[in-house]
Amino acid sequence: MADSWEMLEHACRQCHSCSLSARRTNTVFGDGSRTAEIMFIGEAPGANEDRQGLPFVGKAGQLLDDMLEIIGLDRGMVYITNICKCRPPDNRDPLGVEQETCLPFLRKQTALLRPKIIVCLGRIAAMQLIDPDLKITREHGQWTEKAGVAMTALYHPAALLRDPGKRVDTFLDLKSLQREILARCERTPLRRVGRQQPAPAGGPSQEQA
Ligand code: URA
Repeated sequence: MADSWEMLEHACRQCHSCSLSARRTNTVFGDGSRTAEIMFIGEAPGANEDRQGLPFVGKAGQLLDDMLEIIGLDRGMVYITNICKCRPPDNRDPLGVEQETCLPFLRKQTALLRPKIIVCLGRIAAMQLIDPDLKITREHGQWTEKAGVAMTALYHPAALLRDPGKRVDTFLDLKSLQREILARCERTPLRRVGRQQPAPAGGPSQEQA
């Protein structure tokens, strides 16, 4: 497969290796900095992402931006992509075969980026990349290391929209991510943010004092 970002993105945009390609408006390759030390990986594009060709731009994406903001990050400082680069119909989970078919693109993206930290967003990415038996309700926020890369899983932002009760746990997971960034990353200066607390269930996603 391609040895540069440009070649890889081109190959991805031309890909027809699985049936998801037949219905896509756009391939959603990735977004953010190609020199980032931190990589966020979701499962697959939704309708907004398919329309715009960018990952996490719908409501879940707005919440992801808020989550990054809580720890002084923004999109331009990280790299964001998905396991599958094309939208599954009706927002269903990507099938195992679709994930496997698309994985070479993610592997190559990871090889080009050489991230220090990988954050899986949700159970699909976590089961594919950390542990096939992972239970997100039990193992979110835990850290593991693979080939020198620190890896963790957070609840998917869409799950946080459905169940705001998970936001307190996610706030603590984000603070743990912040500590890991401070310990491992050299080129990712975190902006100072005000004193924070997790949003009340159903309320805004963060509150700054
Ligand atoms: N959900 C995902 O997993 N990825 C996106 O890009 C958007 C929503």
